[in-house]
Amino acid sequence: MTRILTVSTSLHPESRSRAILQMVGSGLKRIDGVETDHADLLDIPLPFCDGRHPVEAYGENAKRLSEQVGQADALVFGMAVYCYSVSGVLKNFLDICCGGMTEKPFGIICASGGSLSYMAVEDLQKILMFEVRGIPFPRVVFAANEDWSEEGERAEGLLPPIPERVKGFVQEFVPFVRRLSHKPKA
Ligand SMILES: Cc1cc2nc3c(=O)[nH]c(=O)nc-3n(C[C@H](O)[C@H](O)[C@H](O)COP(=O)(O)O)c2cc1C
Repeated sequence: MTRILTVSTSLHPESRSRAILQMVGSGLKRIDGVETDHADLLDIPLPFCDGRHPVEAYGENAKRLSEQVGQADALVFGMAVYCYSVSGVLKNFLDICCGGMTEKPFGIICASGGSLSYMAVEDLQKILMFEVRGIPFPRVVFAANEDWSEEGERAEGLLPPIPERVKGFVQEFVPFVRRLSHKPKA
């Protein structure tokens, strides 16, 4: 069984990264031998990290999130681009809960305003590679404002080619995770 945790990190009620992450989660759920779990930081508020350890110092929500992270074989993050980087909410979540991500593969679904902000995903990759030797999946789904129809709600009407990219992400992420978990130990 491959356990994949999707983590939505935008606090926007009509978050676009959440909408795409939900498409990814539904796709992953349909794959044989995959068990999915989901955490949405909108529903699970965390205090700010102030350097205390262990994770229990940050309360029940932090403990619960850390358990979900620990049980996962791999993670997929939904992230918003804020000031050309990850949001403070995502960074704070990582500051508190990234211990259980050690050496785990992870994927990124990213929503931004402009199409030139795609390098923000590299910040998340860098953080997890340096901090917990996380293994980034080299296919990111990135959607800017121009990738959404102007009709309907804010997180509705994803335009081509993003839905195709979501399909590609779903199809390739699971074999990527499985290849890594079968790697012989040195
Ligand atoms: C504080 C703040 C900073 C932002 N900074 C950027 C930015 O640097 N580059 C960009 O393209 N979009 C930026 N945006 C736009 C968001 O990335 C965009 O609204 C995106 O849809 C947010 O993801 P979400 O819908 O999942 O919340 C910013 C938005 C906010 C609120």
